[in-house]
Amino acid sequence: MRKRIIVFVMITMIFAVVFAGGAREEKGPVELNWYAHQSTFNNTQEQIIAEFNKEYPNIQVNLIELPENTTDKLQALLIALRSGDNSIDFFNADVTWTPVFAASGLIENLDEKFPASEQKAFLPSTIDAATYDGHVWGIPFRTDAGVLYYRKDLLSKYNKPVPTTWEELKDTALEIVTAEKAAGNEMYGLAGSMKQYEGLTCNAVEWFYSNGGSVIDEKGNININSPNNVEILSLIREMVELELFPSGVLSYGSGDARASMFQGNQVFLRAWPKAYALSMNPDNSSVVDLLGVAELPKGPNGTRGHSTLGGWQLFLSKNSTNKEASLKFMKFYSSEYAMRLHAINDSYLPARRSLYSDSEVLAANPFFGMIEDVLTNAVPRPKSPFYAEISAIIQVEVQNALNGNKTVEQALADAQTEMEKIDK
Ligand code: GLC
Repeated sequence: MRKRIIVFVMITMIFAVVFAGGAREEKGPVELNWYAHQSTFNNTQEQIIAEFNKEYPNIQVNLIELPENTTDKLQALLIALRSGDNSIDFFNADVTWTPVFAASGLIENLDEKFPASEQKAFLPSTIDAATYDGHVWGIPFRTDAGVLYYRKDLLSKYNKPVPTTWEELKDTALEIVTAEKAAGNEMYGLAGSMKQYEGLTCNAVEWFYSNGGSVIDEKGNININSPNNVEILSLIREMVELELFPSGVLSYGSGDARASMFQGNQVFLRAWPKAYALSMNPDNSSVVDLLGVAELPKGPNGTRGHSTLGGWQLFLSKNSTNKEASLKFMKFYSSEYAMRLHAINDSYLPARRSLYSDSEVLAANPFFGMIEDVLTNAVPRPKSPFYAEISAIIQVEVQNALNGNKTVEQALADAQTEMEKIDK
């Protein structure tokens, strides 16, 4: 056995020498490590690898699952890449990471490999998020936007419309929760990913912009301490005090927030579109077919609800020793075929425009019809090499406001001061 391995290694090395420079990867065998999301319940990532192998039998893609939490994903990748780890070939990267990785020289720029002629099939916002300092660094495979899930059956039982403002949502939730509790049922109004991590930043950005506020304004000024932000955060805090959120919500990741909704004990949920496919899986959901999807509500001073623009792309590590082969898979994973499968299986929002008029994609996700408008009005998070620091300040101070450690005014004033200290 050992001999066989040695012979195999030698053959591989000979191949590597003979084919060094460009063609080597095509001849293989090549092994690539893809640091990706955890597998979805229907193993879409694995299905895509299997399909890729029909075309490229000599390229083996090892799927290595990153931690579930976005902030942990970022830390794990930064630590590994900064220490010179060359076992990571390419990896899933959040839209906010482009300046972080590009500015630290850890990834390849893809200007030549992913030219404008290919970019034009993608939604412009996904290309914008992949671009920094005049170069493109990522190949998008999924876009994202926060949406409001509601229990169709409960709203109709209480004869309530889908709320379009935060006050209306609060009042509707309060009425239904009060009546359901009186009838002896466990019921909460709303949950979202509100523990101290990136998911909370996304929720906070939505609250602020949906009330006419911002974090950094169009001129680049830090503007988190504003009357509009105080107003909306006070309203969310009031909802915490009214116990409309489950008591543990300030330690909820997105999975926890979905779980309470899927158990059937909650009226509303703020989540990403992927929650829809999960809600339709009877193994994990007792609300199959009972959830409607709507735009997020607006605040008392807002003109409309705004989602945070989320989404994911693939970055190619500078340390990869198999860049050409990596690019083959990166292109495959961002192809129409792969995005279509993820959209149908997992309700992932495709980064390619064409799929929004695909009848099978629309049939699997009836709410995709309203998504274009949501995406057009979605707000990107600040674009900065110091994004992780900016986001951490938002998370800490929003939690301070919601758990009562500070007044809302104090928490936002402190967030402003802390953010001003960061070298933008
Ligand atoms: C989703 C979004 C991503 C965001 C993350 C927060 O995965 O696509 O952009 O940062 O949630 O947890």
